[in-house]
Amino acid sequence: MSCEMIHVLCVAGARPNLIKIKPVIDALDSVGATTTFLHTGQHYDDAMSGVFLDDLGLRKPDISLGVGSGTHAEQTAKVMVGLEPIVDELAPDAVVVVGDVNSTLGAAIVAAKAGVVVAHVEAGLRSRDWSMPEEVNRVVTDRVSDYLFAPSADAVSNLEAEGYRDDQIHLVGNVMVDSLLSNIERATGRDTLERLGLDAGRYALVTLHRPANVDDADVLESLMGVLDVVSREISVVFPVHPRTLSRLDSRKKPAGVALIEPCGYLDFLALEHGAALVMTDSGGIQEETTVLGVPCLTLRDNTERPITLVEGTNQLVGRSPERILEAVHNVLTNGWVKKSPGLWDGHSATRIAEILVANVAKQTLRPTDLKES
Ligand code: UD1
Ligand code: UDP
Repeated sequence: MSCEMIHVLCVAGARPNLIKIKPVIDALDSVGATTTFLHTGQHYDDAMSGVFLDDLGLRKPDISLGVGSGTHAEQTAKVMVGLEPIVDELAPDAVVVVGDVNSTLGAAIVAAKAGVVVAHVEAGLRSRDWSMPEEVNRVVTDRVSDYLFAPSADAVSNLEAEGYRDDQIHLVGNVMVDSLLSNIERATGRDTLERLGLDAGRYALVTLHRPANVDDADVLESLMGVLDVVSREISVVFPVHPRTLSRLDSRKKPAGVALIEPCGYLDFLALEHGAALVMTDSGGIQEETTVLGVPCLTLRDNTERPITLVEGTNQLVGRSPERILEAVHNVLTNGWVKKSPGLWDGHSATRIAEILVANVAKQTLRPTDLKES
């Protein structure tokens, strides 16, 4: 099989997946691979999906599964049932999955059982918090994957410690940063701040969507109370994820916090770029703020992206109101140090495409062959 003959099925399903898959599809196309872009439909609102195709210049999906929302089992199962006949029919040489959402897991399992090579982009991240659905998705997806594309050295160490073979693990950097660097100029050229009545460097940007923060009414109410206090010191803008919107008590919305629809990618990058600080529980936003040099307070007890704490602008501040408010005060008065990890340079997807095109056709060992101890 020649390089040109490699056919890669690229799967995405949720908002952050679209941002991660775009550079991978582009890089595979540019090295001569044939790509099929499949959207599972896990996210389906225009604000969670359509706008990302437009903003990223991502082509319309070649195949849409339309799985929609549901419980974990329903969603993962719908991805699997929808994908299985497609993998059988297309018989791709490899399936690329990105990130840690239910679509990632469902697609990886189907491909592995069909005997197709599986490549996981963003492999090796571990929060070590088994109550996070994403942690289950990460661990299982890695286990059935042939190619483990790690964004950072800590991810490589995790994979080595779990017994993966050296030839499976590839430190390639961060594809989300590829998209960020390709789009930041266009994003900051927009009138996003003007439209929202915000001044650069004089507002806090907030996102919250982790079940641990938004599914429990008391926790969410407490965090909204914190935002209320912050809004007395600095403007607060909060694009609300649909999961969070469905749980917000309209009677208890803090008056000083601007709750807005989820933003498109370019508007959101512009908001991140101009923020005095970002408060979030998102995975991707911890990485983007690191690259943009904007301080990030992560409202969680752990992170699967520790590199953003050590080599970035991120701080873990948990959920306690006192601790969060102290961190906000510190950042606004004392500033912060800007640092950025190596290999987060905008070329990660090119590295991935080159590795796949050079090796997929010669693949002999499979995930069952763990490192000999
Ligand atoms: C999912 C991922 C999470 C990721 C996040 C990115 C899993 C287990 N979770 O969480 O890791 O960080 O996406 O944003 O895969 N909804 C809409 N419109 C949409 C999509 C969802 O209204 O287009 C609502 C539905 O009520 C749905 C809820 O949001 O039940 C949650 O959606 P779901 O995809 O199950 O999980 P997320 O919280 O979005
Ligand atoms: N994002 C966006 N609009 C928003 C919120 C986030 O475009 O209103 C982008 C953000 O720039 C990042 C990605 O969505 O690239 C992060 O996705 P999300 O926080 O939903 O998921 P996670 O990264 O936590 O899995």
